[in-house]
Amino acid sequence: MAVKIYGSLEINEYVEAEGALSEYDGGILWNLALGDWRTNIYVISINVSNMKKIGIFYGSATGTTQNVSMRIAKMLNIADSDVHDVGKTLPSAVGGYDILVLGTSTWGSGELEDDWFDFLDGIEVLDLRGKEIALFGCGDETMSDTFCSAVGILHDRLSGTGAMFIAPYDTIGYDFDESLAKPAEAEAAVGLLLDEVNHPELTPQRLAGWTKLIMDSQTA
Ligand SMILES: Cc1cc2nc3c(=O)[nH]c(=O)nc-3n(C[C@H](O)[C@H](O)[C@H](O)COP(=O)(O)O)c2cc1C
Repeated sequence: MAVKIYGSLEINEYVEAEGALSEYDGGILWNLALGDWRTNIYVISINVSNMKKIGIFYGSATGTTQNVSMRIAKMLNIADSDVHDVGKTLPSAVGGYDILVLGTSTWGSGELEDDWFDFLDGIEVLDLRGKEIALFGCGDETMSDTFCSAVGILHDRLSGTGAMFIAPYDTIGYDFDESLAKPAEAEAAVGLLLDEVNHPELTPQRLAGWTKLIMDSQTA
């Protein structure tokens, strides 16, 4: 359960923090994660909320999807420590989160970014029931038959995990013919598709719309 704590470390010092409610003993909450360090905190009030914990997991060959991941983290108020490069992370790390935000660029001809191969092998066999997954990806619209197809690959390979997919996103204003991320008959793509190569100017607005969907889900 996520809790928001209003309290003080010293007299007259006011802080806000979030953490796991582990042991509450007469006004002292132990082992609260506050920024990068752990501390005890004198609790003034606790607001137990239903905020779901979000983790971002990305694969990125040249840094574009990594950069977008950091932007998403800022918009969702996610700590850097909850943003994971799948090339350097064990699949079991997804266990710590309620909402998994998964990002991949597309390479080759509609393929996953390389770092995703092992990580996806690891998570597609997990039981992820009760978790939610939001997908995003970076691609190039001029590769018109495979635009952001890797996002569709993530979707298809994770559909047996029991997780619920959230935040599909429309493709109005996009210019591509085919993508595994948007089946022809579907009204929306399975997640957010970005083109930082040709249309970086459209990214802020798209990110704003899509992260709002995730925030709505976080408190639902
Ligand atoms: C050799 C090559 C193949 C690519 N293939 C695709 C593709 O099939 N579909 C697509 O949408 N983008 C494709 N791209 C574009 C990349 O996905 C895009 O540059 C992306 O922003 C890279 O993100 P990253 O740095 O996070 O890996 C390709 C780029 C290169 C250089």
